[in-house]
Amino acid sequence: MIGRANGQPITITGLGSHVPERVMTNEELSKLVETSDEWIVERTGIRERRVAAPGEAMSDIALPAAQMALESAGVAASAVDLIIVATVTADMAFPSTGALVADRLGASDAAAYDLSAGCTGFMYALAQAYGMMAAGLSERALVIGGDVLSKIVNWHDRRTCVLFGDGAGAVLLERDGTGGFLGFELGADGGGGVHLQLPAGGSRMPASAETVAQELHFATMNGPEVFKFATRVLVSSAEKLLERCGVRIEDVDVYVPHQANVRIIEYAAKKLGIPEDRVIVNVDRYGNTSSGSIPLALAEAEAEGRLQPGALVLMTGMGAGLTWGSALMEWTANGEAA
Ligand code: UT7
Repeated sequence: MIGRANGQPITITGLGSHVPERVMTNEELSKLVETSDEWIVERTGIRERRVAAPGEAMSDIALPAAQMALESAGVAASAVDLIIVATVTADMAFPSTGALVADRLGASDAAAYDLSAGCTGFMYALAQAYGMMAAGLSERALVIGGDVLSKIVNWHDRRTCVLFGDGAGAVLLERDGTGGFLGFELGADGGGGVHLQLPAGGSRMPASAETVAQELHFATMNGPEVFKFATRVLVSSAEKLLERCGVRIEDVDVYVPHQANVRIIEYAAKKLGIPEDRVIVNVDRYGNTSSGSIPLALAEAEAEGRLQPGALVLMTGMGAGLTWGSALMEWTANGEAA
């Protein structure tokens, strides 16, 4: 799916993020599995990640991120009419984390639900919220992306546990006189789904004592296959979208790629021709936070003053599904929506 924005200008007017307190270093991981700080840094660029406390669930980290986004936009929760939570680690299968967050926020007039598109979830949710607003169904949408992957990671599997971390980010979308979203490109290849999956616990293989004994309730990943996929789609998705929007790569001021592995980010930036100083990287401190990665990076870039009004911002995600997605937008000043 690809399209240029053709509705009213719709933009991000509030940004927030939240990560659990506990920091887990590579050194600590090397006591759990046969790995080393040197291997993890060299192969992934990750130095540490955040890990949720026992009992800390997706809605617990989504809520502060959402509250921060609303506060930065100066908008009350009661004025939000749509909440989408992009996650693969919802508090439970149902009710949705979206509904739980809406209740805790006090957003009693909002439609609220979850969206599952792996690490690309935030990009899908952004496009969906944009579409609802452009169609006139929503006036103010809160899009939250996050995951608590520490709860579904196999801490005995060095091929996966070193990569992931927990965190969430949130953005408020409002109409604005200028700038905002210029277009989206989204895709999925279910044929590659087997390379990154959580086999048990769904309707195909309901959870049982046997699935637990076989550790099928943990995420599994074919790292090298996902790596190849990632380097291919991060480039192709961005190129297709820029072409559709009539924007040249050299006009992109800020590039926010999914934070999965610094080698993937560096490859994509080089192949696209985006200079290093325009690329946002925080995977070293948070690991791969799945749907949380792009909004966390965006919130950090904003806090550092790297998102100036008028800047062209390109975001691209990829992940389980397999899925991918890009969004292009012209940044607008926070909290200045019409
Ligand atoms: O959001 C989307 C989710 N996922 C991704 O984007 C992940 C994409 N994939 C990757 O980032 C990389 O494939 C990994 C970081 C997961 C793995 O790096 P790699 O360079 O592709 O390593 P590999 O799987 O090809 O393994 C190379 C070697 C193997 O040893 P042998 O068979 O050559 O002796 C592995 O057993 O490295 C070994 N290895 C490790 N060694 C120390 C794998 N994981 C580890 C580890 N520590 N944690």
